Amino acid sequence: MTTSRGPRRALIAGNWKMNPASREEAVGLANTVVRAVEDLEATTVLCPPTMWLVPVASAIDGRVGVGAQTMAAEEAGAFTGETSPLMLRGIADWVILGHSERRHYNGETDETVRRKVVSAVDHGLRPILAIGERLEERKAGATEAVIDRQLRIGLTDIRRIAGSGLVIAYEPVWAIGTGNAATGDDAQGAAAQIRGILRELDADGANEIPILYGGSVTPDNAREFFAQPEIDGALVGGASLDATAFGRIVARAAELRG
Ligand code: 13P
Repeated sequence: MTTSRGPRRALIAGNWKMNPASREEAVGLANTVVRAVEDLEATTVLCPPTMWLVPVASAIDGRVGVGAQTMAAEEAGAFTGETSPLMLRGIADWVILGHSERRHYNGETDETVRRKVVSAVDHGLRPILAIGERLEERKAGATEAVIDRQLRIGLTDIRRIAGSGLVIAYEPVWAIGTGNAATGDDAQGAAAQIRGILRELDADGANEIPILYGGSVTPDNAREFFAQPEIDGALVGGASLDATAFGRIVARAAELRG
């Protein structure tokens, strides 16, 4: 759909992180979300834990998108515990890469993320590249520098942004799971910086890339983000585990951006 903001449709991704604990709950949540969002003019993507990708993908049967929360850059080999892009094909169309929890708890560096992003694109998966500054970086006035570095390194090996399927999620680390969301203005500022860098890299392709905001998004504050000109949707953590709340966020996106 084409809007005054260009060809970008509203996109809401739910990052379930390491939840829920059982297959039954995962399938139940997925089915309830599908019923809530099916008729809305927005693209919805559910990102369950790796263990529940197959049952969730089977249950929703293409009615909404499915994404993985991470993947290895490599296709196969001695990488204990990892999931390869070849394994994801046919199950997930999307993959979150560079989430701050992967960077902080699993030692992923900008270089690791760079290798994963190009691998995802090469394997026909749509990367949702997550970037954002930590509280101490923000306090030190380094927000723009962190965004610049994480984005440019993450995209180093992408030959053409146009047609890559790329999505960028701006997730300030201090806003994740804290209830302390960024303001609409701050998120718009970061998204505008991201759009500017994308334009430098590919003047034609930049406008097709959805930019999401993530960090304590709720049905009550969602409108503030979706009203911003450069924000096309959200990457939702906690609220994505509540089908009603998540459905309301998708509905807000459809209203404002659909
Ligand atoms: P919360 O919505 O729980 O703050 O999490 C955001 C996030 O990390 C999504 O990837």
